[in-house]
Amino acid sequence: MQTWNFGAGPAMLPQAVLKKIQHELLDWKQGMSVMEFGHRTKEIEDLFLNLEQNLRTLLAIPADFTILFMQGGARAQFSALPLNLLCSGEKADYITTGHWSNQAALEAKKFGDIQIALDVSNAPDGVIPPCENWMLSPDAKYVHYTDNETIEGVEFLSTPNLPNQTAPNLIADITSSLLSKAIDWSKMGAVYGSAQKNLGIAGVCVLIIRQSWLKQSVKPIPAILDFALMAETKSMYNTPPVFACYVALLITEWIIAQGGLPAMQLLAEQRSALLYDYLDNNHFYINNINIASRSRINVPFNIKNRALEPELLELATKQGFKQLKGHRVKGGFRASMYNAMPLEGVQALVNLLKQFEQKHR
Ligand SMILES: Cc1ncc(COP(=O)(O)O)c(C=O)c1O
Repeated sequence: MQTWNFGAGPAMLPQAVLKKIQHELLDWKQGMSVMEFGHRTKEIEDLFLNLEQNLRTLLAIPADFTILFMQGGARAQFSALPLNLLCSGEKADYITTGHWSNQAALEAKKFGDIQIALDVSNAPDGVIPPCENWMLSPDAKYVHYTDNETIEGVEFLSTPNLPNQTAPNLIADITSSLLSKAIDWSKMGAVYGSAQKNLGIAGVCVLIIRQSWLKQSVKPIPAILDFALMAETKSMYNTPPVFACYVALLITEWIIAQGGLPAMQLLAEQRSALLYDYLDNNHFYINNINIASRSRINVPFNIKNRALEPELLELATKQGFKQLKGHRVKGGFRASMYNAMPLEGVQALVNLLKQFEQKHR
């Protein structure tokens, strides 16, 4: 039976990539698995260089940005950012639009002076007011936002245009939108994203940061979170997650073969349009998020008669639609459509939803 994995992450991987991993698992090079190579070997050094090069090409990353392969997921970056970037007396602004930006702000507050410049994390319609209405601090070292709220299904469809932005000081958590659209580097100080949604499997978090931000920290911080040290050691201060980086490399190769970032962006738009068109044009299902900030990636939805939800979930699971259950705090359903999800999978989901609607209408 064909299965479609709509899980929010760890998420679906392209079949071609899984097959390549299977094919190379026992003998990647020289009769050894990639998992058995020492990380200081030329082979693994090349693997990291190739991954970095592919990311640079795909995302058009300017030369004055450094790419670091960090561990501890995006959550480790929640603490690493204030630890590395805020000296005493300095502050940062956080924009909270949902669960993950709240988590980022809560963690950062442990290590720095953090102001919430906008909090719409509980807005049921996902409306993000224009930047002119944000309570930005004129002297904020950086302004942090979560590009795509994986749980609420709220996305910044364009880069925030901060009024009076004199230097590029935005930092975005792009964990769930990585490699699904272009990044306006002229406004960014850094972006970071865990790999397990759009770049393979859990274990590595890509941090892309302005070289000029890699100053030696004045206060003592954990070595493993120290950006300058990680840059100096080419992300190999400790044993790096080589297998996760190997999968990430295969994913970047796959994306290049699909037509690169424009192809992924187009697919994200087509997939989400197909699903929203259907959800919006019937009286049976509902997604409350306003059009200006609706996620192209994660689509949470409910049945208006919520008593029917367990029945749909059971039917979907039986028919091969996996991990459609909504996040535990939100309930309902969530269709996560990362780069590996073809249009065909979303069409199959729409057909299932239609079939269920017709039965209960
Ligand atoms: C937007 C966003 N940020 C951060 C995280 C946390 O990532 P990790 O579990 O890799 O720390 C997630 C996980 O789903 C996420 O969706």
